[in-house]
Amino acid sequence: MPFGRLFRGRTPDPSPDREPEPPVPDEDAADNAEAEPDVPPEWDATGEDLERSWRARARDVIPGGSSTGSKRPEALYGDGNEGGPSHYTRAQGCHLTTAGEQTLIDCTMALGAVSIGYGDERVVRAAIAAAANGNVAGLAHTAEVELAERLCDLIPCGEQVRFMKSGAEAVSAAVRIARTATGRSRIVASGYFGWHDWSSASAGVPQGAKHDVTMVPFDDVAALEAACRSAGRDLAAVVLEPVVERLPSDGWIASARRLCDELGAVLVFDEMKTGFRLARGGFQELSGVTPDLGVFGKALANGFPLSAVLGKREVMEAAGRTWISSTLAGESMALAAAGAVLDIYEGEVDVCAELARIGAGIRSAVTAAVEASGVAGVTVLGLDPMWLVRFEDAGVERSFLEESVREGVLFKRGAYNYACLAHDDEETIIDIERAASSALVAVVRGHEA
Ligand SMILES: Cc1ncc(COP(=O)(O)O)c(C=O)c1O
Repeated sequence: MPFGRLFRGRTPDPSPDREPEPPVPDEDAADNAEAEPDVPPEWDATGEDLERSWRARARDVIPGGSSTGSKRPEALYGDGNEGGPSHYTRAQGCHLTTAGEQTLIDCTMALGAVSIGYGDERVVRAAIAAAANGNVAGLAHTAEVELAERLCDLIPCGEQVRFMKSGAEAVSAAVRIARTATGRSRIVASGYFGWHDWSSASAGVPQGAKHDVTMVPFDDVAALEAACRSAGRDLAAVVLEPVVERLPSDGWIASARRLCDELGAVLVFDEMKTGFRLARGGFQELSGVTPDLGVFGKALANGFPLSAVLGKREVMEAAGRTWISSTLAGESMALAAAGAVLDIYEGEVDVCAELARIGAGIRSAVTAAVEASGVAGVTVLGLDPMWLVRFEDAGVERSFLEESVREGVLFKRGAYNYACLAHDDEETIIDIERAASSALVAVVRGHEA
């Protein structure tokens, strides 16, 4: 526990002001770094001004400030945050450079869209080559067929594939395919599936859109059984996000399979986060329970926009009897990026084993910082490659996230942090622990002030 010293013999900070002062130019600053742990080197007023300015400009032209809900400032830091960085200009490996020119270690990895690292040369080269050869044309690209074949080889349920751009689109397509295949409409679902009407509880969703959908809690066998039995022979599909903060019980997954078989319904696993992370073929590869359809995205193309619904031939063929289509679904840049990703996953390194090893290192560093701080109501949860910090108190959470960013690390608020291959460096893990420790010291001082 290299940062235990931050909590030993600590006396309260006499200053209630937790905003660090801009560093005074000092030729000896580097030598004094040990003595001045509260002033991170990148922090300066100009940078802060730039962050605020981009944030204000974004708010003016983009409702909420970002087209991705989880990247809105309130989503990043919590209500009441004023100046935390919200925009970046460059990302490489596991680092990003903010609009205010601060370098951060990113633990969010773009909401799990990146498992290798930002700007990975192999992936980017493949994407650029595809773009230079004409990203789209009046015919489908051969890369679409090649990638479909490769995914069918890798993913247990895969016999046929349709590509799309976003996760929400692909899960909606799975629901449409299941309804077409069965000629039924009722859906039983558990998890988060994106913003589309069929699964969303947001404003603007008409009552009727979810009329045939019953949401059930994660890993609740009785609730699943009751909902499926109530739908009976009208049940088109059971759609599960199979991992939510922990692995489910075997019984839940087995019940889902058994109920679908008995009632003639389609079992769908949403593997958006688990695919190419827990195992190449996702949770279905680990659990040994094969769904009829699987939905993949995020890490599939290391940050390029690609999602896929794939599954058993007799179910997937229903996609040809309904209408699921998008102008750019088969653009070749994202397909080529995914091809390069698969090359990496099929290469010498067992990427998923590495993500688990690296994630375990980061997770235990953060857990050590939390335990040493003695701050109550903070728990590190999740699985090694996808873990999260849960705070009982929203104010403590906001202070922690704000201070962590000042210390050079971006953690995800209320959701998973993801390990990537580029986090695999001892210094990075030490920096993450140092930032978490310093942020928790600041939280304690804030309480004492
Ligand atoms: C399990 C799951 N399904 C679907 C989605 C929606 O994906 P997208 O945001 O790409 O539409 C997400 C996004 O986080 C997800 O985690």
